[in-house]
Amino acid sequence: MTEKSQSETSLSSSSTPGSTRNLKESFLHRKLGDSSSSTRGSIHDFKDVSTAATVGPGRMGVGIAIALLLAGVRVYMLDAKERDPTEQEILWERVTAELREGVNSLAELGLLLKEDVEGALSRVSFHPNEQLEEIIGCREVGFVVESVPEIITAKETVLSRIGRSAHDGAIITSATSTFLTDDLARYLEHPEHFLNAHWLNPAFLIPLVELSPGSATDPAVTTATREFLQSIGKVPVVCAPSPGFIVPRIQALAMNEAARIVEEGIATAEDVDMACRVGFGIRFAVLGLLEFIDWGGCDVLYHASNYLQRALSAGERYAPPAIVEEHVNAGHSGGRGHGLFYRFEEHERVEYQREKLTAYVALLRHLDLLPHTSVG
Ligand SMILES: NC(=O)c1ccc[n+]([C@@H]2O[C@H](COP(=O)([O-])OP(=O)(O)OC[C@H]3O[C@@H](n4cnc5c(N)ncnc54)[C@H](O)[C@@H]3O)[C@@H](O)[C@H]2O)c1
Repeated sequence: MTEKSQSETSLSSSSTPGSTRNLKESFLHRKLGDSSSSTRGSIHDFKDVSTAATVGPGRMGVGIAIALLLAGVRVYMLDAKERDPTEQEILWERVTAELREGVNSLAELGLLLKEDVEGALSRVSFHPNEQLEEIIGCREVGFVVESVPEIITAKETVLSRIGRSAHDGAIITSATSTFLTDDLARYLEHPEHFLNAHWLNPAFLIPLVELSPGSATDPAVTTATREFLQSIGKVPVVCAPSPGFIVPRIQALAMNEAARIVEEGIATAEDVDMACRVGFGIRFAVLGLLEFIDWGGCDVLYHASNYLQRALSAGERYAPPAIVEEHVNAGHSGGRGHGLFYRFEEHERVEYQREKLTAYVALLRHLDLLPHTSVG
């Protein structure tokens, strides 16, 4: 690497996916290094997190509980809403059925042995609203997930209760999709132990968890969270408190554009979705968007953006960002290892590209989409 740009720095601090074969050992990941364990003084060793609590047993609470159970973590599932006994019983029956169905289906798919299903389910227990303080205050609970509805008053009530009860070695996270960390952190007595951890649905399958520390979050807490999530097989990335994290922000643009194509009569929904699955999806399962910019050259994106902006009368929708414009205007077309985001020596570039092509072939083979060749 000839020079370390700011983008490289931020990427090097994340678990950059680079290969479908083994995300954590891709060329790019090895090259940029993983700074996740570089911060000293974690509040506790991630290996100590053997017990977690999820608060709000809805879709995310159940999905995250399954992810934790699969990894051998003991899970206390807490309700944070007052209910009469009948309502509570109905809730736990539903949650138990959902957990069992989720774990069973993963066993059927070969993710765990059928004989391990009961063992996984035996690690979960259910607790009503009244037990929240007692359970969260347990010394053994090292990781707390708040997953109550996206209603600020519900977040305020529940996070304040969690904050008052949690011990000083616990990591407290919110699964919120929209509230910024600093806005939620004000409800906690010790905001230094708190950060947003945005899981994607279904949480027990999608590897990504977007971590968003706030201005008060102790960096050691972010490190410990990252290490814990990695230890259960997740791929955490870190982003500043900003609306839409990384994926929802990019995804919303792509989804709106797909809907617009149908609205304008350009293609059918089926063809748009096929194009996304076998073109867009396959491409970006192997290469990150920024890797792809550098692969083709920044100038390609720059000219395509300007053309689309004019041709589609798209206003600012397609305008290239300043970072791209400046790179092109400075005469760096990119490509061939001299990208905007990544720099490679020639021998590194060859190894990197070979690894990417190998990953594409593996993915295409898995999807039964390999090109037809006449080679016998
Ligand atoms: N559903 C998704 O795809 C998704 C994805 C990522 C993040 N999230 C975020 O995860 C969080 C939970 O979302 P969800 O989809 O699991 O919601 P949900 O409605 O499925 O579950 C919420 C749970 O909280 C309980 N609850 C309801 N009102 C409450 C209150 N006033 N106080 C305490 N508990 C209450 C509900 O009974 C339910 O058990 C939200 O912040 C959401 O933005 C959701």
